[in-house]
Amino acid sequence: MNREKIIVIDFGGQYNQLVARRVRECNVYCEIYSYKTDPKIIQEMNPKGIILTGGPNSCYDENAATCDPILFELGIPVLGLCYGAQLMMHIMGGQVCKAPVREYGKIEVTVDTSSPIFQNVAEQTICWMSHNDFIKKSAPGFQTIAHTPDCPIAAVQWKERQLYAIQFHPEVLHTAEGTKMLSNFVYQVCNCHGDWRMDAFVENTIKAIRKKVGSGRVLCALSGGVDSSVAAVMLSKAVGNQLTCVFVDHGLLRKNEGDEIEEIFGPSGPYELNFVRVNAQKRFYEKLKDIQEPEQKRKIIGEEFIRVFEDEAKKIGSVDFLVQGTIYPDVVESGLGGESATIKSHHNVGGLPDHLNFKEIIEPLRELFKDEVRQAGLELGIPKNLVYRQPFPGPGLGIRIIGEVTAEKVRMVQEADAIYREEITKAGLDKEIGQYFAALTNMKSVGVMGDERTYDYAVVLRAVSTVDFMTAEAAPIPWEVLGKITSRIVNEVKNINRVLYDCTGKPPGTIEFE
Ligand code: XMP
Repeated sequence: MNREKIIVIDFGGQYNQLVARRVRECNVYCEIYSYKTDPKIIQEMNPKGIILTGGPNSCYDENAATCDPILFELGIPVLGLCYGAQLMMHIMGGQVCKAPVREYGKIEVTVDTSSPIFQNVAEQTICWMSHNDFIKKSAPGFQTIAHTPDCPIAAVQWKERQLYAIQFHPEVLHTAEGTKMLSNFVYQVCNCHGDWRMDAFVENTIKAIRKKVGSGRVLCALSGGVDSSVAAVMLSKAVGNQLTCVFVDHGLLRKNEGDEIEEIFGPSGPYELNFVRVNAQKRFYEKLKDIQEPEQKRKIIGEEFIRVFEDEAKKIGSVDFLVQGTIYPDVVESGLGGESATIKSHHNVGGLPDHLNFKEIIEPLRELFKDEVRQAGLELGIPKNLVYRQPFPGPGLGIRIIGEVTAEKVRMVQEADAIYREEITKAGLDKEIGQYFAALTNMKSVGVMGDERTYDYAVVLRAVSTVDFMTAEAAPIPWEVLGKITSRIVNEVKNINRVLYDCTGKPPGTIEFE
């Protein structure tokens, strides 16, 4: 397919995936590549434009990340952002050095609105700055098109050669008109038409899957999370009953969740597919006996999941394709795309069953960001409550129970969590809070219930506001709501006599409580 494409060249900055997401929000497809990628490969991809991202280095340092100057000679429009802007100037003969005044935060920038990149942008506009170095002198041929009192060269252009460099971060939402600037780059400078649309993506992917699979048999591990659900529905639309979905209930799901998944994907649900539910609770609890350490639990749950899945797959017989719900951030973070090559053990990438015989893996969501997966889900007609489900870790409640996991503790945390969620929804707060759940501490303490002394567990309520799940703040929940949740939990959940609220942000905490 001849899709328009913008290439983001990643120099290791923290907002690099955001750049690609924002471009895609302008309906133009965008991929991230490391700065080490050979320019020939980039040229062969025939991109409509190239964006150089921010990065942690100083471009004049000896070992700083750099790029081949040929990138600026290809006749392809280039936009440098922050480090990318400085690097462009440095390479092309400008001067970059330590700024006399470091700029950080929201800063009013004066822009030249006759530049294509600032078309329809206010002359004074708030932008997000974060830099220690600055462009002291622009490279020959470039004209200054933005400045602040402390940053005389906040953006430059060489219009005829379609080269642009911006010191601030248009990809960050704090830059009030950032999306407009990126949209100007892709439409006014790169002449894109905007052919990246989720309805077309869904339709084309279904057709491509149908062609690839032919009369083959397909196997999918369904967790009930957003990614695997969207992948499964896409496959079901493409190949119907040639698809078998195996849902492993590890006994670490939220209350009633196993039944809810069965209702949607099972025989009474709307989709054409073969659905197999494996009730493997006992098997998991036995493996988790005496295990305290969270990483060890994760490993055990992950491995056991694969073993159960394999056992089930063997019963099904030969399959030709295996479906995986890998999404684009997984690809980038496993080091295959950009520069931020940190493999997160919990991202469940690479955990492939190794004893299964299949021809090929199908990853229908491999190109999508999470919000795009959700849009695809809506296009496919998946119920909204499933599409907008909160993230739920693969190891489930296994990592929301401090210390050893037992069936009894799972019951406690499931019930407390169900009450918590019900009350948050009733209070109308569920859309405002990024992620919220109950976890069970390993602490028992004394309480009184009626006239009796109790010696029971404490449950923790966690709620965070977050955009990217990499940083988070504890979400403020009104005291009355917390009071109601507390009294319901201690009254209704046996063996819990205290409710605590976790006020820690991330960092220094994590979102999960494990
Ligand atoms: P933390 O606790 O690392 O969580 O701040 C960040 C986000 O990742 C989710 N998370 C996991 N997801 N398997 C998963 O699939 C895991 O082991 C896991 N651990 C954390 C967490 O729910 C949050 O959204």
